[in-house]
Amino acid sequence: MKGIVLAGGSGTRMFPLTKSVSKQLLGVYDKPAIFYPLSILMLADVREIALIVNPHEKQAFIDLLGDGSQYGIKINYFVQSEPRGIADAYNVVKNYIEGESSMMILGDNFFYGYELPKRIRKAIENNKGATVFAMQVKEPKRFGVLDIKDPNLPPRGIVEKPAHPPSNWAVTGLYIFDKDVTKYVNELQPSTRGELEITELIDIYLKKQNLKVEYLGRGTAWLDTGTPDGMLSCASFVKTVEERQGFKIACLEEISYRRGFMTLDQITSQVKKYPNCSYRDYILQVLEAT
Ligand code: G1P
Repeated sequence: MKGIVLAGGSGTRMFPLTKSVSKQLLGVYDKPAIFYPLSILMLADVREIALIVNPHEKQAFIDLLGDGSQYGIKINYFVQSEPRGIADAYNVVKNYIEGESSMMILGDNFFYGYELPKRIRKAIENNKGATVFAMQVKEPKRFGVLDIKDPNLPPRGIVEKPAHPPSNWAVTGLYIFDKDVTKYVNELQPSTRGELEITELIDIYLKKQNLKVEYLGRGTAWLDTGTPDGMLSCASFVKTVEERQGFKIACLEEISYRRGFMTLDQITSQVKKYPNCSYRDYILQVLEAT
């Protein structure tokens, strides 16, 4: 199982914040935004990850994440020269994932919820064709939406940013695809906005009756960091939860240790080299308590 994080895109909605910095490198409370989607792949035990970035932002991501070995994962960088849609990611990483299933997450998506990692790991295990994760939202117009009356029956369709949403079930930015995905991407035509739409790729699986929908309940938080308001809401959410519980959300070193990617000694000696800061103190304290 390969992982893909989509961290390209033009970031125009965030201008001028994103004039010189990728939106996924901006801070969301106490960490760079990219930590949150990356943490979801790690919690799903996906350790070989393709990070898709803009050409001029690649070095900044390398400066932050390196080859991933500091978190017990392997990150390979891929450059997408112009944004051609989410599904186009599969053209970019075609050779990398050849013959394997993959889990893709959008770089601005944030997920948090009780037993969510377990649920995602199960979904990977049970995936046959494609699996998507759906959530009810107040403004379905902003998302890919499922045409569904009864979550016990297969959806009748999926539509991207509909003017008249057929339901309030949005398709989140977390997807599992089998190895055939690169073949199906070739069947897609650019939409009216000139993009290879992820919803059309999902629709191919739906029509083949090979799509599984995981309906996430109200106890899950699904937010996005891709707009100034989204970023601020997400930062407040993280701060609120972290302050109350004393545990950090998306601390990659902690996840690496808890999922058994690295040993206590490996993490400890690495973290001791970090500058004196509360992030370092937190990890050392967590490790000590285990
Ligand atoms: C994209 C997808 C959409 C999905 C959303 C989730 O929208 O096209 O289907 O619901 O991500 O975040 P965008 O972020 O490009 O507006």
